[in-house]
Amino acid sequence: MRQVLVTGGAGFMGSDFVKYLLAHYPDTQVVVYDALTYAGRKENLAEVADHPRYHFVHGNICDLAKVRETLERYAIEVIVNFAAETHVDRSILDPDAFVKTDVYGVYVLCEAAKALKIQRLHHISTDEVYGPIPQGSFKETDGFRPTSPYAASKAGGELLAQSYAITYGLPVTITRGVNTYGPYQYPEKAIPLFITNAIDDLPLPLYGDGMQVRDRLYVTDHSRAVDTVLQRGQVGEVYNIAANQEKTNIEVARMIVEALGKPDSLIQFVTDRPAHDVRYALDTEKLRALGWEPQTSFAEGFSRTIQWYRERQDWWRPIKSGEYRDYYRRQYEARGAKPSEPAGG
Ligand code: TYD
Repeated sequence: MRQVLVTGGAGFMGSDFVKYLLAHYPDTQVVVYDALTYAGRKENLAEVADHPRYHFVHGNICDLAKVRETLERYAIEVIVNFAAETHVDRSILDPDAFVKTDVYGVYVLCEAAKALKIQRLHHISTDEVYGPIPQGSFKETDGFRPTSPYAASKAGGELLAQSYAITYGLPVTITRGVNTYGPYQYPEKAIPLFITNAIDDLPLPLYGDGMQVRDRLYVTDHSRAVDTVLQRGQVGEVYNIAANQEKTNIEVARMIVEALGKPDSLIQFVTDRPAHDVRYALDTEKLRALGWEPQTSFAEGFSRTIQWYRERQDWWRPIKSGEYRDYYRRQYEARGAKPSEPAGG
């Protein structure tokens, strides 16, 4: 029996990974360790709540005593760290939580993993540590040029994990993924925000000219990639994860209004995000050499995601009418952004 701790396991990507592990590894016990901040939600794990190989611990990765106690109580062998503050716009408003969770929290996990001789610490990083790339794609050996407090915090956390691997021989692996989408994604991120706004005939706020490019990876392909690295990755190595399905934001916004039968005039250009990265792109040769490749085309993942948000209004409506409203208002006030003219037809 393998004992796996998934930190941030109640979040969007973490909860998908937890379900993936439970479905694919009958000998694995999965312990979710999650602070249940705004984006970590027990509802995301409702379908496995009574699973005999699943346990939940409410805790913060910045709490060393609680992390150690959890590792000991469940005799954890492997830690997969999904716990993070992840939203660029929030990091511009309030960087504090990003530095705490994404830097100090990773330090705590490294310390605890070192003290308890954990067999593997896998850390989820992001393409944003590299910064923007107008053309071509980044390899794992390329340098960091993060542009937002979020990206810089993720870079700091990742570098700490790497230093523990080099200095103390901690068995660390790292993945850097591109923009991931799918069911259960908190509706502050572009795709779920646009879908849920369009369902309600609200404007889709497109930053700047909407020509920024993102690669879009379906969440379960991301989970499979992390599993591939856990099974076949080399300790001490970093692996990029990408779908190589690039789209501009305006293309995505148009696909969403079209799929929902809404008018293009719902798409509204608003003041840009400061330091908005024009494009991210990653080379995935190293991960593909381990046998991974994405299985979900954008068309398929996109229509599955739209369908889910249509059906699961019980999941997102309470979110959008709660804490989120205040965040959304602050977001616009802080940037002086106002919805402007509708997109040209
Ligand atoms: P987001 O989902 O926040 O992810 P990231 O910033 O990590 O890439 O944003 C994806 C893209 O969509 C990014 O280029 C910013 C843009 N965007 C908008 O145009 N409008 C929005 O309301 C949001 C949230 C994002």
